[in-house]
Amino acid sequence: MYKIIIFLTILIIIYGLYNSQNKNNQKITKNIAIHHTEIPKNNRLNILKHELKELNKVSYLKAYIIDVINKGSYDLGFKGGVMEGGFVAPEDASKIACFVIEMSGKSCQTSYPKDAQMFYTSVCGGCHGDDGKGIKGTYPDLTKKKLLGIHKKETYLKTEIFKMQKINN
Ligand code: HEC
Repeated sequence: MYKIIIFLTILIIIYGLYNSQNKNNQKITKNIAIHHTEIPKNNRLNILKHELKELNKVSYLKAYIIDVINKGSYDLGFKGGVMEGGFVAPEDASKIACFVIEMSGKSCQTSYPKDAQMFYTSVCGGCHGDDGKGIKGTYPDLTKKKLLGIHKKETYLKTEIFKMQKINN
């Protein structure tokens, strides 16, 4: 009887571990929105290289912020927990992204309505601060030279490119 109980307990633990591992993997693949299968190897390498080149552009930053506003941010490991997507309507995301970009000292390159600041302060400012600087370790600083999500993506792209080039040579 004892043995059966011990055996079952171990089985449940293994199942739990397997499940959490699976969930983690799903999260990672969801956040890195690159197609892994259908693209031929060389094309994939070019796509990754192209994305790496784009990564420092304001347009990339803007697309990233809009994506976070709409879909949330889940894997940066802040004490404040995760950020849910959809605090504002998708049509307001772009102007708020512009306001955030200008707060960090860059130019958004397109004009945007003045009410963006009001949206930012009332919806985002509570966590990220009215100056966008967040709270260290709890809410991310949105005025950083390179946002953490973009930095993470850069590391990922560089690693993948390195691996692929090694295989090709
Ligand atoms: C309830 C608090 C809260 C609110 C409100 C909130 N955020 Fe966040 N935000 C967070 C947290 C926490 C994270 C980090 C989550 C994680 O670990 O991935 C985050 C992450 C981000 C990131 C990614 C930062 C990086 O360095 O990559 C951006 C950009 C961002 N938020 C913008 C906004 C904008 C714009 C708004 C308003 C529409 C907003 N947030 C509203 C808590 C919040």
